[in-house]
Amino acid sequence: MEFRLKGSFKCSKDVSEVFDGIEAVFADANKTVLTKGAPHGEGASSRLLGIESGRVEFEIKSGRYVRAHDALLRLKKALSAYLGKEHHIGVRGVEVDAFTVKIPSDEPPKPMKIPFVREISYNAGMINLELELSLKELEDRVPDRIIRLIEEKIAKKDFGGKSEHWELLTESEPKKRIFNKDPTEEMIKRRWLIHGAVRGQWIHGIQITRIFRAFERIVVDEILKPLGYAEMIFPKVVGWDVWKRSGHLKGVYPEIYYVSPPQSRDPELWEDVINYYRVTQEVPIDMIRERMGDPIGGLCYAQCPPFWPFLQGQTIANESVPVRVFDRSGTSHRYESGGIHGIERVDEFHRIEILWLGTPDQVVKQSKALQERYKKIFDEILELEWRSAWVTPWFMAQEGMSGLSEKGEVGTIDYEAILPYNETWLEFQNLSVNGDKYPKGFNVKLQSGEELWSGCSGVGLERWAAAFLAQKGLDQENWPDRFSAIVGDVEEGAVRLV
Ligand code: SER
Ligand code: ZN
Repeated sequence: MEFRLKGSFKCSKDVSEVFDGIEAVFADANKTVLTKGAPHGEGASSRLLGIESGRVEFEIKSGRYVRAHDALLRLKKALSAYLGKEHHIGVRGVEVDAFTVKIPSDEPPKPMKIPFVREISYNAGMINLELELSLKELEDRVPDRIIRLIEEKIAKKDFGGKSEHWELLTESEPKKRIFNKDPTEEMIKRRWLIHGAVRGQWIHGIQITRIFRAFERIVVDEILKPLGYAEMIFPKVVGWDVWKRSGHLKGVYPEIYYVSPPQSRDPELWEDVINYYRVTQEVPIDMIRERMGDPIGGLCYAQCPPFWPFLQGQTIANESVPVRVFDRSGTSHRYESGGIHGIERVDEFHRIEILWLGTPDQVVKQSKALQERYKKIFDEILELEWRSAWVTPWFMAQEGMSGLSEKGEVGTIDYEAILPYNETWLEFQNLSVNGDKYPKGFNVKLQSGEELWSGCSGVGLERWAAAFLAQKGLDQENWPDRFSAIVGDVEEGAVRLV
């Protein structure tokens, strides 16, 4: 990586008389502050280009260690100290005339727009960025964020275009295949559910709802009660600040269902809309859009982030860890675009979110306890053909957590079940140890001063149903006895149509 920055310091008075002194500051800085913290010979170097009354023109070159923008701030400090002390002159401002960054990459970048980047080009294995920014952005570390963004895009490509690394952990016995149809289609035929009025949404009839509730009872009885989890109700509209802290705003935009309140609840504002609708019986979408406020956030996406403001800025008493809570109070929403399929890929879904936090040791132990309990349920109650895999999402690799992930500590376990009707594996739930990501993002501490970690696990009811019904079919007499007993008569109270 190479940086080259040309600019000038603006001083409060003419400094052309003290050229030699200023040149000495530059020479000294090159040997001291501009190399501090860098391996030998890898620091930044500055050069005085000229002085024109109060303007000190300079150039800084650097590699990745003391980056040119940091070097500039260090140099400014050194120059201010010298001019202030020796000549009672202040450094009033900085102008950046040209700032180029070269980042190695095997491939040219795709065209993109990044704030403060005037031009992006590619030449001989290097991405060249021309930045256009002021002292404020240098002080706010904007260049570092630009570089990190580009490096992430490069790393994502290097990750093989895959979103994650996948490694088999456990595998159940193969099970006898007794059903080979798509369960959603079969459920529609029997009217266990029908499409909802908006995209990617189902109206769940009595039978499938009964199955969902049976899953919930299993999770409560076999996992949450024995492991000491208590229920909470997390909000389902999530504001920007929560997603900022949870990290979701780094990339989740294409999948959010945005939430906008009205600009005002003054009936006057809405009268035209009402009149239009009353007369035409058509919904005047454009008129409604004009009266909507800015989005305040979106509908619940990952389910656990809106829990965190509950502890934000707090210190948890030692006796309260591991904190163990769960939420099943509402839907999650993701815009799945073309990917909608059956009940397993939908825009609106139901999930129990299990969340725990404590010392790293406690959090890893909870994860193990949950894994054992899940295994028992899938083997002994649902009798599924399933497997689990250790996955490292690419962003985790990027956040420098690969090491922890390789140790099998921080990362995600995906649970997958075979769908006999198309011989693919469906991810039907996950379990993650998230390290200190959330406690850090929401500034939560532990009384003892030990590191605080957290984990979460999402039990997707649609996904459990898709996996179970794909393997066992819809005829209750073919279901495992234990599960069937928990469900009760699946058809009881069903609405018959003529
Ligand atoms: N919060 C996790 C997720 O969204 C688990 O549900 O994947
Ligand atoms: Zn979560």
